[in-house]
Amino acid sequence: MSNALDGKVAFVTGGGRGIGAAVALRLAEDGADVALTFQQNRQRADEVVDRIKHAGRRAVAVQADSADPAAVAGAIDRAAGELGRLDILVNNAGAFDLGALEQLGLEEFERTVAVNIRAPFVASQAAVRHMSAGGRIVNIGSNVAERAVFPGFSLYAMSKTALIGLTKALGRELGPRAITVNLVNPGPTDTELNPADGPNAATINGFTALGHFATPDDVAATVAFLASPDGRYITGATVNVDGGFTI
Ligand SMILES: NC(=O)c1ccc[n+]([C@@H]2O[C@H](COP(=O)([O-])OP(=O)(O)OC[C@H]3O[C@@H](n4cnc5c(N)ncnc54)[C@H](OP(=O)(O)O)[C@@H]3O)[C@@H](O)[C@H]2O)c1
Repeated sequence: MSNALDGKVAFVTGGGRGIGAAVALRLAEDGADVALTFQQNRQRADEVVDRIKHAGRRAVAVQADSADPAAVAGAIDRAAGELGRLDILVNNAGAFDLGALEQLGLEEFERTVAVNIRAPFVASQAAVRHMSAGGRIVNIGSNVAERAVFPGFSLYAMSKTALIGLTKALGRELGPRAITVNLVNPGPTDTELNPADGPNAATINGFTALGHFATPDDVAATVAFLASPDGRYITGATVNVDGGFTI
């Protein structure tokens, strides 16, 4: 436990489970008060909130579907109001629509673009209105933005690749305000979305150099570093936390 983020307020989309929950808990461990969103599973989000409060930090969970831009912006304004400020935005919630090209419909296309691209854009827009110098935006992308090893990933990979451009452009734009913007690309990470004991795990492990999945805490540690004062000179960067998947 460090105090690198004492006095800071963080906002994490999709913080009820998986990587988002690990990020919320780690930022709180490092001293931040945390607001997190969830889509439908209030109980899981409330459990994360309880753990953060138990550790002595303030926390709030807001139901906000990232497919709804007004809900995302409203949740950020509410969090900044309730917690008094906003310093760190983590765009973590993601849609994971896989399928062969001919089988993917416009509904999947629209959802993927809305959740994986539009929401980080809208959230960044809302968040920087509250941020001052030292602000941090960390986007959560994916290793498949750089290396497409499986068929069926066209929508998902396309959307995560868009975050590279968003991260670089916002890093350039917000640099003069001393706000950094970075992208963390996880590789296979043991969550309910992609369990380390799932049917394709052995194949996936074979694509990594380290031979195993990450834990959500492995990803959270990198997010926490980028969010900390020590990360102040890193902006517009993509950091692969993928066990060597993209080597
Ligand atoms: N796991 C991996 O191997 C892996 C690899 C590379 C990248 N990623 C990326 O990492 C991020 C997190 O993945 P994960 O594996 O931690 O997922 P996860 O275990 O499925 O957890 C998803 C979390 O996000 C929330 N969420 C999902 N869709 C949402 C939406 N439309 N609006 C608001 N909240 C939403 C869920 O809320 P509810 O609990 O209410 O459903 C839940 O809290 C995603 O962007 C994913 O693409 C994951």
